[in-house]
Amino acid sequence: MKNPGDLALDCVRTLAPYVPGKPIEELQRELGLEDIIKLASNENPFGASKGALAAMQRAVADTWLYPDGSGHVLKQKLAAKLGVDSTQITLGNGSNDLLVMLAEAFLGPGLEAVYSQYAFAVYPIAVQATGAKGVVTPALAPDSPMPLGHDLNAMARAITPRTRVVFIANPNNPTGTWVPAADLHAFIAATPAHVLIALDEAYFEYTEGLGLQDGINWLREFPNLVVFRTFSKAYGLAGVRVGYAVSHPSVAGMLNRVRQAFNVSVIGLAGASAALDDTHHLASAVKVAVTERARVTARLEKAGTRVLPSAGNFLMVHVGEAQKRFEALLRRGIIVRPVGNYGLPEHLRVTLGTVDQNDRFLKAWEA
Ligand SMILES: Cc1ncc(COP(=O)(O)O)c(C=O)c1O
Repeated sequence: MKNPGDLALDCVRTLAPYVPGKPIEELQRELGLEDIIKLASNENPFGASKGALAAMQRAVADTWLYPDGSGHVLKQKLAAKLGVDSTQITLGNGSNDLLVMLAEAFLGPGLEAVYSQYAFAVYPIAVQATGAKGVVTPALAPDSPMPLGHDLNAMARAITPRTRVVFIANPNNPTGTWVPAADLHAFIAATPAHVLIALDEAYFEYTEGLGLQDGINWLREFPNLVVFRTFSKAYGLAGVRVGYAVSHPSVAGMLNRVRQAFNVSVIGLAGASAALDDTHHLASAVKVAVTERARVTARLEKAGTRVLPSAGNFLMVHVGEAQKRFEALLRRGIIVRPVGNYGLPEHLRVTLGTVDQNDRFLKAWEA
């Protein structure tokens, strides 16, 4: 056997791996640039709050100990904040971990999961690795009011007796698009009970005023709903990897069976718990992102660039020769995200940074 890797399961060998944003250090090594800004992974440019940073620094002293595998303190705080029972919460090493746990627990050969074209790239990976079939529904047309967004009618039509999970990112990454709360509510109400709805609310904090759902309010009505949230975006904690799922306790019980015993680190637990108290930091970071979303969109449109509607902390722009534009920005020390791996070779995704960073991006764009 030449390549022992070929011994892997077919469903794994045929997977297209996740393509992350380009790290700052890599660009430093390649171009020898000093002043680099990364607008490529939808991180919060203001970072973690002071309280979260201090809590994580204190937690360093405890890193010789295994973390509390039940995440008791963080779960209690989340339960109180969200108005749910702590038995409904599952913690993850980022929400990515939880999406994988859901697939592991509920999918396998002979079963299907439905997601939209251009939906978040982790869904196909999580689904296919279990041996289940990923059923991709066509996205809304580029000239529709929500270009490239999820088409709920197409998704409903794709559900069969073999379907166990439907993934909906609202808003979606990388498109930024969303489905209105009323449409989503009707979709979930019409979904048969043998199907779990995985509602990914990674960008929940940025959606206010745009008519999206707060999925946690729907959990009583829909026992087959699972809501995913994260500390990676608005809370500025992407590097320590903490996310959570809120679901019916019986679903949480199944996720807990496949969860790695100590999946959230000592530092992650401390940082996330403290971050929940720093509501001011969260609100001010979100406010900048929301204001900048409108300002940067208007400036790009003025420069003749087509921008998709976004409910997230990022914009999807249509640029034609995206790879050339991406490389030109790299030479100016600005990392954005090509989305060719999503089948969108003519688009770039740009994370909203601080006002100064966005100005630097706009100047480079307009040059
Ligand atoms: C829609 C969506 N869901 C989930 C995630 C996973 O985030 P994390 O694992 O950092 O919580 C991301 C990250 O980019 C995302 O965009």
